[in-house]
Amino acid sequence: MEEAQQTESTGIKPLLRVLEGTREAVPPIWMMRQAGRYLPEYRAVREKAGGFLDLCFNSELAAEVTLQPVRRFGFDAAILFSDILVIPLALGRKVEFQVGEGPKLESMADAAALANLHESIDNKVLAPVYETVARVKSALDSKTTLIGFCGAPWTVATYMVAGEATPDQAPARLFAYRDPESFARLIDRLVQGSIEYLVGQLKAGAEVVQIFDTWAGVLGPQQFERWCIEPTQKIVEGVRGRIPGAKIIGFPRGVGAMALPYVELTGVNGIGLDWTFEREIARDMLQPRVAVQGNVDPLALLAGGAALAREVDDVMETLAGGRHIFNLGHGILPQTPIAHVEQMLKRVRG
Ligand code: CP3
Repeated sequence: MEEAQQTESTGIKPLLRVLEGTREAVPPIWMMRQAGRYLPEYRAVREKAGGFLDLCFNSELAAEVTLQPVRRFGFDAAILFSDILVIPLALGRKVEFQVGEGPKLESMADAAALANLHESIDNKVLAPVYETVARVKSALDSKTTLIGFCGAPWTVATYMVAGEATPDQAPARLFAYRDPESFARLIDRLVQGSIEYLVGQLKAGAEVVQIFDTWAGVLGPQQFERWCIEPTQKIVEGVRGRIPGAKIIGFPRGVGAMALPYVELTGVNGIGLDWTFEREIARDMLQPRVAVQGNVDPLALLAGGAALAREVDDVMETLAGGRHIFNLGHGILPQTPIAHVEQMLKRVRG
């Protein structure tokens, strides 16, 4: 009883504690894309659900696949199963996922396409996602943190403008250079929609939200400030204006030398780093300011064995002295053997 009271007041969720400013002897651990095709139980549900978006909007099945990796591996966090592209959908754009081909959207080559974009997100479209959050929350034990998410406006815009995944995000970068005012209107629409969406998830039971800026790394410094830092800062401020103290992790993939301004200007509680980020710089410059999440190379996880052991040890030796959330530097690859995930967990937790 006494112990229960004590844990109640200090908080017993390791991931939340790290975001609040403590260092954990064993870092909390979860994996980007932890609910996914490398798991046979995911593939079974996915087959039953029909299309990928059908799965995202089926609260019962989405909650089930969210919980699968937590059950199997005992991760410290569950991440909502959904996708960043539900926001364009809720703004009135067509979004489809074709098997093996990735997302297909109506493209937006110029300002004219903005006329067909809704002013604000349709929460009716997103209601099943909020229900998934509530279902997962009620199923989690007292140590596991529920993470919600959205895509950062820049990254979502790269898909909306091109209509599909691109190797260099050239269509969105060109749009932004040619017509920055119109591009800013698109970004602002995404900022407002993302605030609304994240607040909806936090109200439904998410305890942390992560903003995925997968394509941040293609932007030069000025563009990065304008299209990545500024919108993220507005989302953080907007969410905290409605949910004071909301905990937010940013994942500006490929951030490189812009990491410090990103952290200082956006006000995030944690930063997710990809595997190319110099770990000693993360330790010396970032950990004193925020929690650092990452940054095992997903290919080291795929390789397994000695290469994985070395990678895990290096991350631990460099980052475990400070506020650290153990994670991958990007999503787990579908071909990854489950035994390698087990090997990684064992090496971190001992
Ligand atoms: O486990 C989790 O991490 C939660 C679920 C999640 C998904 N997508 C499920 C998904 C999360 C957090 C995302 C975010 C997401 N979606 C990002 C940002 C993170 C990142 O990976 O960089 C991006 C860029 C997207 C857009 C997207 N969704 C693409 C480009 C694709 C196709 C590529 C692919 O991996 O197939 C998706 C599909 C997608 N989203 C899958 C999953 C599990 C695979 C689809 C399937 O199961 O058939």
